[in-house]
Formats: sequence, C-alpha cells, structure tokens
Amino acid sequence: MKELPKFYNSLEETRKEIFSLLFQGVKKRKSNFHNLVLNTVDLHNKPDARTVVLRSFSQKDLTIGIHTDSRSEKVEHLKNNNFTCLVFYDDQKKIQLRIRGTTNIEKSKKESWDKLTNWSKRCYLTSNPPGQVSNNPTSGFPKKFESEAPSSEEAKKGLENFTVIRIFIDEIEWLFLASQGHRRALFKINRDNSNLSIESKWLVP
Ligand SMILES: Cc1cc2nc3c(=O)[nH]c(=O)nc-3n(C[C@H](O)[C@H](O)[C@H](O)COP(=O)(O)O)c2cc1C
Repeated sequence: MKELPKFYNSLEETRKEIFSLLFQGVKKRKSNFHNLVLNTVDLHNKPDARTVVLRSFSQKDLTIGIHTDSRSEKVEHLKNNNFTCLVFYDDQKKIQLRIRGTTNIEKSKKESWDKLTNWSKRCYLTSNPPGQVSNNPTSGFPKKFESEAPSSEEAKKGLENFTVIRIFIDEIEWLFLASQGHRRALFKINRDNSNLSIESKWLVP
C-alpha cells in the first residue's frame, strides 16, 4: 500500500498543501494545477464551464487571478452572476479542489498586461469577439499574426480586450483519494472583519 502523506489526518497540513499546490500551479506550466475549470451560470440560468490558466494566487488576500478577453461570454455571465466554482484535479496526486468564490473584474490590469509576452498578447487581438460565428475556419487574428508575434506597438491594442478576473475565495473543498480511505475537508474563509480567518472541518467523503 502507498505510504500516506503528512496531510492525511491533519487539517492544518491539508491547508498548507492546498496553498503550496496553488503556488506551484501559477509557477509551473507542467503542474496539474496550472489549468482549472471555471464554472459560471449563463444569462438563462444554465451552467457553463471552460478551462482557464491559473495566473495568480495570493495567500494574504486569498484570491485567485485569471486572464481573459473582456468580450468573452464568461465575462458576460460573471457580470450577471458573480459567483463561481473553480475545479482542479490532479490525476497523479489524486487531489481534487473545488474553490467557490465571488468574482470581480479587476480595474487595474496594466501590471498583469506588462508581464505578458507579445505572443501571449496576441490572444487579445482577434478582430471579432471570441465565440462569434464565422463563415470560415478562423484563428480570429489578422492574417499576419498567424505566423508571427505582434510588435510591441501592434500588441498595445489588445489591452482594451484584456481582462483580469479576481476570485475572492469563499471556501475550498478538498478531496484526496486513497485506498486506505478518502479524505474530504472544507475550509471556509471568513471575510467579515479586516482580518481573514479560516474555519476548517472534515467531511465524510
Ligand atoms: C488548456 C486551456 C487553457 C485555456 N486558458 C484560457 C485562459 O486562461 N483564459 C481564457 O479566457 N480562455 C482560456 N482557454 C479557452 C477557454 O477554455 C474558452 O474556450 C474560451 O475562453 C471561451 O470561453 P467562453 O466563451 O465561455 O467565455 C483555455 C483553453 C484551454 C484548453
């Protein structure tokens, strides 16, 4: 049988493991926490979901940042209903995270924008909004950007469409699969006073 990890019977070690996985997810492209599923509710009250990249995690504020195009449907959904649930699963580590939170479209996005390469900035240069019907198969970019990155000057236009979604974490649900018995835990964030506090408890898996 596989040796049990340090966090198996400890809520505090589990919390530390979650924060460490989120930091690794931001830094390492190969981490299974680099991508997550962002769930929204559409304008007809129906669920929708899509994969996005984990761009930032703040342990101090307990927030997560993701990047997207302001013209995309997810932004429309979140303006209408700003609650979300983020889902991560690492098939090697057998860990699932469900992070429920409240989203905010960040006002200051320039700092995040400046950190992107021109190649990444290209994503925000499609002439028509993402999701719009096209008569032809298309990348959406002006032809020249299909093979080359935009110059810094050309990339500037993308800032208009670039958006940072900040997720204020309300709760994190942990699930660890193990043959000895699974472990499930809930971490609730209390934001009532200026000092954040975390209430943690075990759940039956
Ligand atoms: C591996 C992967 C990573 C992705 N990362 C992002 C991302 O960080 N931001 C984003 O807006 N879309 C990302 N996408 C595309 C979205 O999944 C989605 O197709 C697109 O944003 C349109 O979603 P919407 O119409 O629901 O707004 C990614 C897709 C994949 C497969």
